[in-house]
Amino acid sequence: MNKKTVKDVDVRGKRALVRVDYNVPISKEGVVRDDYRIKMSLPTIQYLRDQQAKVILTSHLGRPGGIVKQELKMDPVAKVLSELLGTEVKKLDDCIGDEVLQAVNEMKEGDVILLENLRFHKGEEDNDPEFAKALAALGDIYIDDAFATAHREAASNVAITEFLPSVAGLLMGKEIAALSKLVESPEHPFIAILGGAKVSDKIGVIKNLMERVDKFLIGGGMCFTFLKSQGYRIGYSLCEDSQLDIAESILLEAQNRGIKFVLPEDIVSVPEIKAETSSQIVDIKDFPEKGVGVDIGLKTIDLFKKELQNARTIIWNGPLGVFEIERFAKGTYEIAEFIGNLERVTTVVGGGETAEAFKKFNLEEKISHISTGGGAFLEFLEGKSLPGVEALEDKD
Ligand code: 3PG
Repeated sequence: MNKKTVKDVDVRGKRALVRVDYNVPISKEGVVRDDYRIKMSLPTIQYLRDQQAKVILTSHLGRPGGIVKQELKMDPVAKVLSELLGTEVKKLDDCIGDEVLQAVNEMKEGDVILLENLRFHKGEEDNDPEFAKALAALGDIYIDDAFATAHREAASNVAITEFLPSVAGLLMGKEIAALSKLVESPEHPFIAILGGAKVSDKIGVIKNLMERVDKFLIGGGMCFTFLKSQGYRIGYSLCEDSQLDIAESILLEAQNRGIKFVLPEDIVSVPEIKAETSSQIVDIKDFPEKGVGVDIGLKTIDLFKKELQNARTIIWNGPLGVFEIERFAKGTYEIAEFIGNLERVTTVVGGGETAEAFKKFNLEEKISHISTGGGAFLEFLEGKSLPGVEALEDKD
């Protein structure tokens, strides 16, 4: 990465204002349901504490739209972070203003505080320089560790860089290194596994990856739009009719380029999507008129495994079925486990649901990198530049 990181600058004893992405799912009872993003921010925080810096963490949570929403306060996050760090992380009631500044000025070296949700202020999403200036007053140096927010142009990751020396955190560096390698110098065979609900969300990614991968394996809801574009009947399965022409042109382009585009050969079909329903595995040629596809079938699982066995690089975005329901998680799980046991392969997984699937199956340790990014991960793979990364200082 050609951006300066926290290790390229002197942070000793400084007030380090760190933008993290703690936009994590919180239950109605106020409990953090997935702490992956919080855990991934720990190396930067630990490094700064080791350097005797004062660590001021700042994040958004949800989409409150510029007003204070009780259920989107950062308190549950501060609780988890305190537990993970083994030290008390004080959560302040706001992210700018005199009281916040005073609390920061009272910090001792190695202390960690968490500011209140940035998006309680409209200035955050407006990339407002005045709001950014008020934030910048809290730090001597700005560190951006929020890769998952890097596709947004906000005051806390873009405008702020006008006011403070601005470098990447360790997570940001790790994410960019892992993803850049995929697009710049992947080892071949390079295979993309794409799933999830919509083709329309993935068109940019497919087009950009078309230049790089040797094979696409397609599952999840989006496979039905491709199958229908090829004349298959798909019952009541998810389909974006407005994308049928695009799906067909993608398949044609892949064929012209000699890139394999593998669609499911069989599907788990149910009368309706709920846990206690009857299910059958059907060949895609015999899809029932009133069926809904919820997972790839056994033949397809085997086919995907065969296609993956010689891979040297794999990228995966989007589950292959309705994995939230145990019975329809088999395709996603079997492929995840198979990849986890492959040797000499670099696997990068991204997007909220896909990452969640790997975590749910306890396969996190078995693959090279699980990105914390959802939208940012996809935009990076689309070849777009990320404003939050662009704004950081280049290496000399
Ligand atoms: C994410 O979860 O993808 C990021 O935190 C960005 O959140 P947003 O889509 O609400 O901007």
